[in-house]
Formats: sequence, C-alpha cells, structure tokens
Amino acid sequence: MNGSIALMICMFLFAGTAFAGKLEPVGPVPVPSANPQTPEKIELGKKLFFDRRLSGDGTMSCSTCHDPAQGYSDGLAISLSYPTTRNWRNSPTLVNVGFQKFLFHDGRAHTLEEQALFPMMSAFEMNQNLDFAEEEIRSVPEYVESFRKVFGGEVTRERMAMAISAFQRTLVSVDSPLDRFLQGEKKALTAEARKGYDIFMGKGKCSECHDGVNLADDRFYALNVPENAEQEKDPRVAATRRFVAKVSHYEDYQNLAEDPGRFLVTRDRTDWKAFRTPTLREIAKTGPYMHNGIFETLEQVIDFFDQGGGKGNSVLKPLKLSAAEKKALVTFMIEALSGKEVPFRYPKLP
Ligand code: HEC
Ligand code: HEC
Repeated sequence: MNGSIALMICMFLFAGTAFAGKLEPVGPVPVPSANPQTPEKIELGKKLFFDRRLSGDGTMSCSTCHDPAQGYSDGLAISLSYPTTRNWRNSPTLVNVGFQKFLFHDGRAHTLEEQALFPMMSAFEMNQNLDFAEEEIRSVPEYVESFRKVFGGEVTRERMAMAISAFQRTLVSVDSPLDRFLQGEKKALTAEARKGYDIFMGKGKCSECHDGVNLADDRFYALNVPENAEQEKDPRVAATRRFVAKVSHYEDYQNLAEDPGRFLVTRDRTDWKAFRTPTLREIAKTGPYMHNGIFETLEQVIDFFDQGGGKGNSVLKPLKLSAAEKKALVTFMIEALSGKEVPFRYPKLP
C-alpha cells in the first residue's frame, strides 16, 4: 500500500517535470465539463465578442483590442481604453488562450469564464455596468432566443461569459511548421528556421521558460523589462495602476509608481515586477512585445535576452549570440510559429 502510494507520488512528480524544456504540438483544447462546446454556443459567443453593446458607451467590443486581423491583439504598445482613460498594459493575443493556466500578464485570473466579465466592468476598458448589459442584451429578441436555445434559459452575465469563453476556446494556431516538425516531418522547417530552433532549445536557453504547447511555462519572472517612458509619463496610466491596485486590496496603492506585476497577486517580494511567460504562438502578428509593449520588433526582444535581460535582474545571463544566430532565432519564431491562415468569418450581429 505504502509502496504504491510512493510510486504514485514519484509518477506524479515525474509527470510534472518530464516536459520541462520540451515543446509540444497543438492538440485538442481542454474544455471544462461545466461549459461544454456546442456550435450554437460558439456562434453566440462570437457575436457577443464583436458586439459593442458590451461596452458602456457602445464604442468598444472585445475585438477592439483583440482583433482577428492582428493575431487577436491590437498592434499597440498599450491598449486603448474607455475615452478619457488609459489602459496600462499590452493586449495579449487570444490565440491558444484555452491552453493558458494563468490569464493576464500577472496571472490574476485562472479561467476564461472568470475572466470574461472583467473587461466589461473595468472602468478603463469597456466601462459597462453588468446589470445594464444584461438588460441591453435582453432587449434584442434574437439574443433572447439564442440564450434559450443554447442554455435553456434567460440572458445572464454568467451565460454571456460562458458563450464568450466557448468562442475563445476555438481560437487556435493551426498546423504550424513547428507542429509538423514535432510530429516527425523533418523537412517542415527551412534550414534557417531549423538553425533557430536549435538555438532556441540550446545556446539561447529560450525553452527553459518557453516550453509546452504554447511555448510558455505558466511561470512568472522578474526580467526587469525597461519601463515604457511615454506610458509612465501619462497620469492616466498611473490612475489605472492605482485603481487596479486598490481593487486588488493593496493597501499602499497610492504610492505605487510602477507596474508591480505578479506582486499584486501574491504580495511576495520575489514577485515584484514579475510577469507571466507569454505564448510565442503567432508571435509574428502580435507585436509590440512585453507586458508594456516596450519592444516593437523581435530583433529588439532578442537583443534584450542576449544582453542578459534588464538591469539588475537575477534571472538571465548574457548569451553572447552572434548576429547570424540572432537572425536564425527570429526566422524560427516568424516562420515556424505561424499557423495556417484560416479565413475568418465575421458574425452578423443582431
Ligand atoms: C480596451 C482594450 C481591451 C478590451 C476592450 C478587451 N480587452 Fe482583453 N485584454 C486587454 C489587455 C490590456 C489585457 C491584459 C491585461 C492585464 O494583463 O492586466 C487583456 C487580457 C485579456 C485576456 C487574458 C489573455 C491572457 O493570455 O492572459 C483575455 C482572455 C481577454 N483579455 C479577453 C477579453 C474579452 C472576452 C473581452 C470582451 C468582453 C476583452 N478582452 C476586451 C485589453 C482589452
Ligand atoms: C527566465 C525565463 C525566460 C527565458 C529564459 C526566456 N524568456 Fe522570453 N519571456 C519571458 C517572460 C517572463 C516574458 C514576458 C516579459 C514581460 O511581459 O514583461 C518573455 C517575453 C518574450 C517575448 C515577447 C512575447 C510577447 O508576446 O510579448 C518573446 C518574443 C520572447 N520572450 C522570446 C524569447 C527568446 C527568443 C528567448 C531565448 C533567447 C527567451 N524568450 C528566453 C521569460 C523567458
């Protein structure tokens, strides 16, 4: 009995570490049993995702900042927000978001269902009152009918979140050269991308953090990414930061002069300015990069890692990559991590 428990614990530990540093091809997206995927639910979620009724002044939908034409991100260093206010972070891609264990740059949400209502309520995003949003959606007969068909009941905020989540789980990177390569197709990568892959896995040490399906390890690191000076100058960004800290019950929110990252969630000093390792899937489309969009190009990102990260960080060491090695890394990320173009069908909104 004890022996078999010990064996099970060993197997568990092994399962937890066996894949560290290993890349995996995209498989089926995990779906929570409480919110099964159905085609009607996905279609309803897609409509809501594009519907500006979800914002307080009717100017914004989720797709404003997560645009299918821009890799479900927005092409800005930091996102737009409700008029007169300012966001504080870069909009992450939603491609393969169904595989993420932590949501947001600081990991403060865990499930899509839990996350979906944040941007609607958020004063610096869609600034909507959820009671009002429910009434607005209830005023549209086509939506009322869809909710009845999909959920067997009326419009509620929870069901809105469930439908939007079901739609988001369909956003996946399909059949990229990396996937084909990992499945054994040796010629799926060009010679240059293959060289980049070897550096990614070896000398560049990238896969120490960028591993698994999403090339992301679900961990948080304080790399001391430079501040975005232009953003820091904007008092509206500071207001957003104080607001998020305040609603996160951080007592000293008034004196917060920079984005504290994961610290806001854990209050652990070692998490000060630590951010989640982001997915690298479809990375060619999702710049600018980092939580604050400080780098416009992948070349700049690689220079950052090559120098051993930002001043005073204790995570990274200089890599001393040659110009040719850096170029191969960029080629790997652009070529190998871009999936097939899937034509996007925009929904017809009621
Ligand atoms: C005004 C721009 C904006 C709008 C509108 C917006 N988002 Fe976002 N979204 C962001 C930003 C910025 C973040 C990162 C915030 C952070 O890390 O604190 C984010 C994060 C997310 C994440 C987490 C992704 C990840 O990998 O961590 C999901 C999921 C998401 N948004 C879905 C939605 C949905 C669904 C809607 C509509 C209900 C929406 N967003 C509306 C800007 C926006
Ligand atoms: C110690 C863990 C770690 C290592 C090693 C590492 N990264 Fe990262 N990477 C991160 C984290 C954390 C971020 C996000 C930082 C932020 O948002 O401020 C990131 C961000 C990125 C981004 C920007 C993604 C985006 O959407 O904003 C790219 C590209 C990237 N890394 C590529 C690489 C490459 C190439 C290497 C190897 C040369 C590498 N990383 C090594 C942890 C790591």
